[in-house]
Amino acid sequence: MLSDAIKDQIKSAHDAFARGGYEVALAEALAILERQPKEPNATRLVGLCMGELGEPTQGATLLAQAAATSLAVCATELDPERQRFGLEWAASCLIEAAEAFQALNDHVTANELLLKSLKVGRPPLTRYLKVSEGLCEVERYHEALEVLQRAERSFPRALELLRALGAVHAALGDKMRAIQAYSAVCALKPSDQDALSRVDRLLSAKVPTWHFPMMNDLPRNEAFRAAIEARMSATTKVLDIGCGSGLLSLIAARAGAEAVYACESEPQVSRVATQVISLNELEDVIRVIPKRSTQMQLGVDLPERLDMLVCEIFDVSLLGEDALNTIEDAKRRLLKEGAKIIPCGARVWCQLVESDELRARYHVDSAEGFDLSPFNQLRDPRVLQLDLRRFDYTPLTAPCLAASFDFEGEFSQLGEAVLSTTVERAGRADGFIFWYDLILAPDEEHVMSTSPHVDGTHWMQGFAPCYDGQRQLEAGELTHFMCAYRRFLLSFKHL
Ligand SMILES: C[S@@+](CC[C@H](N)C(=O)[O-])C[C@H]1O[C@@H](n2cnc3c(N)ncnc32)[C@H](O)[C@@H]1O
Repeated sequence: MLSDAIKDQIKSAHDAFARGGYEVALAEALAILERQPKEPNATRLVGLCMGELGEPTQGATLLAQAAATSLAVCATELDPERQRFGLEWAASCLIEAAEAFQALNDHVTANELLLKSLKVGRPPLTRYLKVSEGLCEVERYHEALEVLQRAERSFPRALELLRALGAVHAALGDKMRAIQAYSAVCALKPSDQDALSRVDRLLSAKVPTWHFPMMNDLPRNEAFRAAIEARMSATTKVLDIGCGSGLLSLIAARAGAEAVYACESEPQVSRVATQVISLNELEDVIRVIPKRSTQMQLGVDLPERLDMLVCEIFDVSLLGEDALNTIEDAKRRLLKEGAKIIPCGARVWCQLVESDELRARYHVDSAEGFDLSPFNQLRDPRVLQLDLRRFDYTPLTAPCLAASFDFEGEFSQLGEAVLSTTVERAGRADGFIFWYDLILAPDEEHVMSTSPHVDGTHWMQGFAPCYDGQRQLEAGELTHFMCAYRRFLLSFKHL
């Protein structure tokens, strides 16, 4: 219980803070803490003042401390009304602390505090939305979805919640549920133009054009077919993640699979896959599940864990379609221990090159005597996808193994390696060309490569420019670079 004198002192410190007198407020709050150490109001004020006075890390830590102390005090409070008030205060203090950590770019701590705030009292809708926003900020969409689904139980028809659900479902690639959520907004508020146009955009989105060259990609199709046939037995039950047209499921069924479960996250693609499968009279063996694999459940979508995973969810950089997370999730929840995975591994290769032509794809100096270089600030930082056979380039090093993945064994979703290699030919290091091998069976008899030196596939190759500045390299010198991957991002950096 605070004495009247301390209450007056806290009020006076608050008034000073509100007037912008941070030093005065800080001195008063510190004086309170001398008399009553850890007093939450004073701790919070010290935190707020430190934030304003250029000590944001200490400020954020003190805000979190104030919340923790207040929670401890609430746990021993006997008066229910005072306890309720105290819990609300602690929750808002947790949010304040989380915002301070967000401003410091420490999203891990910020999200810990936000999630903790949901365990305090009966959270209002705004708190659930705040927590979900914090998680989305760092692409923790699955957790954000869980938070919103919990909020749905208490606030089933809240417009803001439905909008947030639509956005998270869309981010997770679950177009059907995103459409349902935004349609619910439209039903509750027919004048909501934003929700209407989102439904419209989601409904009219066409399938990406790469589907067609991919389905017509002979080296790819033959390599997958040969591996599926080699690894199939009459009792194999198969999961095809990202079935697209259903091609790999059809191959698996024809190769003798006992059953094939084909999941596809894009609703219009899964509808067409069902048509393709019945057109080819294999609907008795193949069942299409119109869902993202990460949302499938044993006992609901699959009767049991399965023996084989077939998945072709790879882009030019191997990882861009979230293959690492998808395979890891399927192994943990949907497949038998030791299940066969096609592909069972992958290797990424890279090579430093000099090339005026490739450089001209992402860089401009001058044209017609005018300096256009400011335009470089607008370039897209992602890697380029191109057919290297159509470009002139000079390799400066031998190909280097940048990363390798053992899908049937252990692999991580994060990795980085510093590679050192001898420069074989002098030149300007403009960037890295890269490609990968998909290892379709453990014996290495079935390997498909996107290398520029073999039959072209629809993936072609990747080019990661040295955006930080090109360097002149001499033959014989040792050069170093880093290859890193973080879930779906692959990056190269010349050191
Ligand atoms: C590269 S295509 C491959 C299609 C088909 N398997 C083939 O080989 O012709 C990948 C497809 O997987 C879907 N997809 C990607 N990740 C998925 C996931 N985790 N669950 C379900 N579908 C997914 C995409 O919508 C896309 O249609």
